[in-house]
Amino acid sequence: MIGVFDSGFGGLNVLRGITTQLPQYGYIYLGDSARAPYGSRPFEEVYMFTKQGVEFLFEHGATLIVLACNTASSEALRKIQSDYEKSPNKKVLGVLIPFAESAVAQTDNKRVGVIATEGTVRSGSFVREIQKLDDKIYVVQQACPLLVPLIEAGEMKATDSLLRDYLAPLLADGIDTLILGCTHYGLLETQVRAVVGPDIAVVSERDVVPASLEVYLERHPDIEIRITKNVAPRFYSTGPLDRFEQLGSMFFRTPLHAERATLG
Ligand code: DGL
Repeated sequence: MIGVFDSGFGGLNVLRGITTQLPQYGYIYLGDSARAPYGSRPFEEVYMFTKQGVEFLFEHGATLIVLACNTASSEALRKIQSDYEKSPNKKVLGVLIPFAESAVAQTDNKRVGVIATEGTVRSGSFVREIQKLDDKIYVVQQACPLLVPLIEAGEMKATDSLLRDYLAPLLADGIDTLILGCTHYGLLETQVRAVVGPDIAVVSERDVVPASLEVYLERHPDIEIRITKNVAPRFYSTGPLDRFEQLGSMFFRTPLHAERATLG
């Protein structure tokens, strides 16, 4: 199966994109809702929690794992990939490279904005990945710590004025491309587009990750062949299952049944 890990519900929005584009595979999703949000946690915690989540997914049948969580991809991916270097049957992918590739392809004026959690911004990972592809690109980042709690509370409308405040410095900086560098922000895409206007390209995880996963599987038939196919997705959460099912259905846009996961 393909494992998808997130700190909570947001990754279900990404899983929705992946299952639409690649419906033939079996999926196992784990949201560490009991310990979310990860966005303001120290690096060591994000690494430890993500490692536990990845272990859980491998133990439950995943052969390939996508860290849908940008904070986990930024702070824990490299170390986790090196932890599994000697295990050819255990692959872990992040979401930063597809984002970076898409932004680099779309920017004309070479000014890219990133909105993300505090942890992702602090890690500098988007700046690094983008400038690895083109070191002439200027990247301006903005942490938006108040958005995730509001989205999780279903208070989408309340994000409008915050979004304007968070995006103002990036617009003043003349960006022509904006990365929504957090699982949850995909749910605000319409509102973001209303603030930035039609001339700014908006890059969201649900658009870039499925396409990049498809390319990865085409290039790695040895991994592709081992993935279980044509089975229903399974959902696990470390937090209260009723809340996960209720909020999760909003992100996944389909009712879902979740099972309890215990980590660590
Ligand atoms: N999943 C996180 C991310 O994409 C957002 C939620 C959190 O802070 O845990 O960065």
